[in-house]
Amino acid sequence: MSLDLKALVRTIPDYPKKGILFRDITTLIEHPEGFKESIERIAQLYRGQGITHVAGIEARGFIFGAGVAIALGVGFIPIRKKGKLPGETIGQNYALEYGVDTIEIHADVLESGDQVLLVDDLIATGGTAIAAVGLLRRTGATVDKAAFAIDLPDIGGAAKLGAEGVTVTALMA
Ligand code: PRP
Ligand code: ADE
Repeated sequence: MSLDLKALVRTIPDYPKKGILFRDITTLIEHPEGFKESIERIAQLYRGQGITHVAGIEARGFIFGAGVAIALGVGFIPIRKKGKLPGETIGQNYALEYGVDTIEIHADVLESGDQVLLVDDLIATGGTAIAAVGLLRRTGATVDKAAFAIDLPDIGGAAKLGAEGVTVTALMA
């Protein structure tokens, strides 16, 4: 495991809005070894720590989160954008680097005693991840670990998530 994963991420300026430097992970996940190594590097940080579920945030968080769940041998919880889940849901509004949105989970998906690892492709402002942690915690589950492929530390989201009692890891900054 020694690939330069950062070199596999493409940066596209002014997408989806002027001034945003968009970190495009499609070039990483199109690379078979790069994708596999990304998943394995995240998973190896969390083996043997009592994780019972991985939760991933739609849409890019599904790609990494599902892989990490399989690698850890635990179930996967999709945190979906509003209106997509068929059962009874609980939801949370949040602000993005470039807009606003709402995420939801099924109300009965977790219970007290569950230990959830949150996984997403990227943390920027932290708004999405903080909303996800708050939402997951409303079930009574413990959510004190979050893993990202990419952290944008200048934007400060990882520090904000840390202040919420979450230990944050990232494969690259
Ligand atoms: C992106 C990314 C994270 C979030 C990070 O998702 O996948 O979930 O933004 O930004 P933040 O730290 O400022 O909240 P986006 O909402 O663009 O959705 P997508 O995965 O469907 O592209
Ligand atoms: N989500 C929020 N900010 C982003 C960025 N700069 N690149 C890719 N995804 C993002």
